[in-house]
Amino acid sequence: MAFIYSEPSRTFNEYLLLPGLTTKDCIPENVSLRTPLVRFKKGEESSIYLNSPMVSAIMQAVSDDGMAIALAKNGGLSFIFVSQPIDAQAEMVSKVKKYKSGFVVSDSNLTPDNTLADIIDLKSAKGHSTVAITDNGKSDGKLLGLVTSRDYRISRMSVDTKISEFMTPFEKLIYGTESTTLKEANDIIWDNKLNSLPIIDSKTGALKYFVFRKDYEQHKEHPYELLDSEKRYMVGAGINTRDYKERVPELVKAGVDVLCIDSSEGYSEWQKETLEFIHNEYNGKVKVGAGNVVDAESFKYLADAGADFIKIGIGGGSICITREQKGIGRGQASSVIEVAAARDEYFKKNGIYIPLCSDGGIVHDHHMTLALAMGADFIMLGRYFARFDESPTNKVVINGSYMKEYWGEGSSRARNWQRYDLGGKGTGMKFEEGVDSYVPYAGSLRDNMDITLAKIRSTMSNCGVLSIPEFHEKARLTIVSSTSIIEGGAHDVLLKDSNYNIK
Ligand code: IMP
Repeated sequence: MAFIYSEPSRTFNEYLLLPGLTTKDCIPENVSLRTPLVRFKKGEESSIYLNSPMVSAIMQAVSDDGMAIALAKNGGLSFIFVSQPIDAQAEMVSKVKKYKSGFVVSDSNLTPDNTLADIIDLKSAKGHSTVAITDNGKSDGKLLGLVTSRDYRISRMSVDTKISEFMTPFEKLIYGTESTTLKEANDIIWDNKLNSLPIIDSKTGALKYFVFRKDYEQHKEHPYELLDSEKRYMVGAGINTRDYKERVPELVKAGVDVLCIDSSEGYSEWQKETLEFIHNEYNGKVKVGAGNVVDAESFKYLADAGADFIKIGIGGGSICITREQKGIGRGQASSVIEVAAARDEYFKKNGIYIPLCSDGGIVHDHHMTLALAMGADFIMLGRYFARFDESPTNKVVINGSYMKEYWGEGSSRARNWQRYDLGGKGTGMKFEEGVDSYVPYAGSLRDNMDITLAKIRSTMSNCGVLSIPEFHEKARLTIVSSTSIIEGGAHDVLLKDSNYNIK
């Protein structure tokens, strides 16, 4: 006879945390959200840590290079979506790895033979007043001079005047080279009262970047940024169990820091084979997460197969209709609780700690805190990030409000049949497991993440813990009744602000 669980499967909304003793040093600013990303042995350190316990979902509507840079600046990590050609995905990874905070590739470039009229046109097209003058008119040509609005007066000069006659020539320029750090560049800018500093290749004289005065303040303010040993932003990428032998080498070549098998259901021999191939091929140096699972048995299978982290969640995603379509899945809280217990058991028995990622189903910020309390080491989010400026989708006006587009990888729009693939000839999608939707536009990632992380720190402080591992050990949770949920919101008062809306 089929096995029936005695407990119903539960969602985050059905739990609350109880406070613990808050000691005087247990203030929110002392709470660390640093968390391991990949497996490690007892007494050792993980080779990758996140500074904020948030990763962005492996989805077309969420994780491209722009999102990856924005999230790494704030301590988290994106997994670039896999439902695209291999070279396109590798290119996105490469863009993140090449991105240097504060170092901007010049987008306004002309040659000395161009004219003032060309400068005026370029300025109106790009909106930038600093134009690099290079031998070939490109951003990587030999730097011959610079034109800023201080170099010409439209009212007094003919628009046919050649740039060579009024540019500031290279000999008079102050510049940096590839070894100049952002801090040094900023000092040079301030000491010399410049608006920008060109950075050139010391051997060839080719232009590489500009550092702009106005950008520095912005770049200085990322205390949690997630950097690799060469101070580049860290980035992950999704893979599938079909073309990994071709895809993984290209992603590794592009500099990817960590991989994750993207599958709606990960308890399969396909995942085991993929993990084994990658670990053998790269001697364990390329880290790869697996999933998704919702119980102890499948966790153990993937742990034994070598998964570097394991992702939890089936059917809880905001755009997900898997449970309706196929009748498979489990409430996200129950899944995290059972898998975390299995992980702790695995650690006790084998001395290997496997980080857990709770994936999908986060509606309110406090759901992330609950997931961490229940044993997750970090959270994967789709809807949350899709709402921000940095997500790759269109911002549109619907019924007078700004919205962003957000669609599931199992929707016919994404055509990611590999994510739902169970082997066989792989003939594509027969039915959808996700929807195409809008989510309310919410502004910048930074502003929103600051608030979310402040709430998590604040609750952890209430619970008397200073770190996520301590939270795992000490958190006390209770199931709430439906009537106590009503008690939890504003009730029995006439609201002055009818837009009252808790994130
Ligand atoms: P959200 O944060 O609740 O929006 O959930 C995002 C998660 O939903 C992703 O990380 C995936 O695990 C999952 N997901 C993405 N696309 C689909 C889909 O089309 N159907 C079902 N689940 C999906």
